[in-house]
Amino acid sequence: MNDLPHREVPLWKPPRIDRAAALDGFATLLDSGRLRAGYRTAELESQIGEFFDRPAVAVGSGMDALELLLEAFGVRDRRVLIPAHAFQAIPALVVRLGGHPVPVPIDPAGLAPQPGILERAGRRALVIWIHHTGIAARHARATIEALRARGATVIEDGAYLLPTDPDGPGTWGDAALLSFAPTKPMSATGGAAVITRTQEIADLIWVRRTHSGVEGRWAEGDVLLRNRSPAETDALLATAQWQQRDRTAQRLQDVQHAYTEALLKHRPELLPDGRDPQPTWGRYLVDLGDRISAQVRPALSAHGIATSVTAARPWADYPALAPYRSLRETPDLQPLLDRTLALPYHPALSPEDVQHVAERLLEALDHQEKS
Ligand SMILES: Cc1ncc(COP(=O)(O)O)c(C=O)c1O
Repeated sequence: MNDLPHREVPLWKPPRIDRAAALDGFATLLDSGRLRAGYRTAELESQIGEFFDRPAVAVGSGMDALELLLEAFGVRDRRVLIPAHAFQAIPALVVRLGGHPVPVPIDPAGLAPQPGILERAGRRALVIWIHHTGIAARHARATIEALRARGATVIEDGAYLLPTDPDGPGTWGDAALLSFAPTKPMSATGGAAVITRTQEIADLIWVRRTHSGVEGRWAEGDVLLRNRSPAETDALLATAQWQQRDRTAQRLQDVQHAYTEALLKHRPELLPDGRDPQPTWGRYLVDLGDRISAQVRPALSAHGIATSVTAARPWADYPALAPYRSLRETPDLQPLLDRTLALPYHPALSPEDVQHVAERLLEALDHQEKS
């Protein structure tokens, strides 16, 4: 009988925040009676804004951030270039707002749009540049700057990005967003932040995130359907995560080093050329080469190891988005998605857990090779 304790290794666990400080913050908040649009939201905005030296606006979620940004820049009848493997809700949102989503090919190392996106983006194009799982592709900055120089508007989607550099990803485009959803590296109950290059766009988002007290906007012809501002409780937790993000990044880098030792030393090819570990990562992705994740996930799961695929299919493959399939197909995308696997990665992951994951993965890959 196998009497080893069964180890459960989750894919992600929110970084722990100081419990006493959070409880104290909640108590003060409840006593204040100001549960939305209060001190905590303003505090979150000023801390993020100060770090980037840009206007920052806190909103209800990453999707709210994208929606408000698309509305602020104007999306109706515009082409919106979106990485072909994006979270499906993003192109669907563009369609809802009257824009035309266009899938663009992905580079296998950075999992970002290829530099060839420059030929596709006309002056009026909007680009949603996703730093996929927090990877800042080597060519990202130069390509985003070139897109802007050609007149395109670039929104950097940093939903999974852990910001560590005030001049890094999030500051290259016209605006950026960070998410505080529980699956993201700064895990709160929800919420997001928008960082903008101009005060004008920040002001527009600031007034349009709420649906009350905006009669003046209705009088001007605007239509505001719902609240998109964060709860003060979201802002409180998000601020705690924001403040400890350097510690989170440090712990995640320790996990990266542990994977280098336990996994990459044996199979360096799991991290493709051009994708070096970065402190901004919100997930740990490996490229299984000539294996596919569906072959190894059950073996890992049998050992209590949670894994995920960050995009199962190109978004234009889904029936609702099929009308936006590109004329220029991207045949190499599905194989890339099939062989990309997210391994457990969170600040509390111990070296023993990493060793366990690495051993089981190496075993599963060896087994696949033999059979
Ligand atoms: C790339 C990307 N952008 C935006 C979002 C939406 O963020 P939120 O969950 O905060 O709405 C997600 C959600 O996972 C995402 O993966």
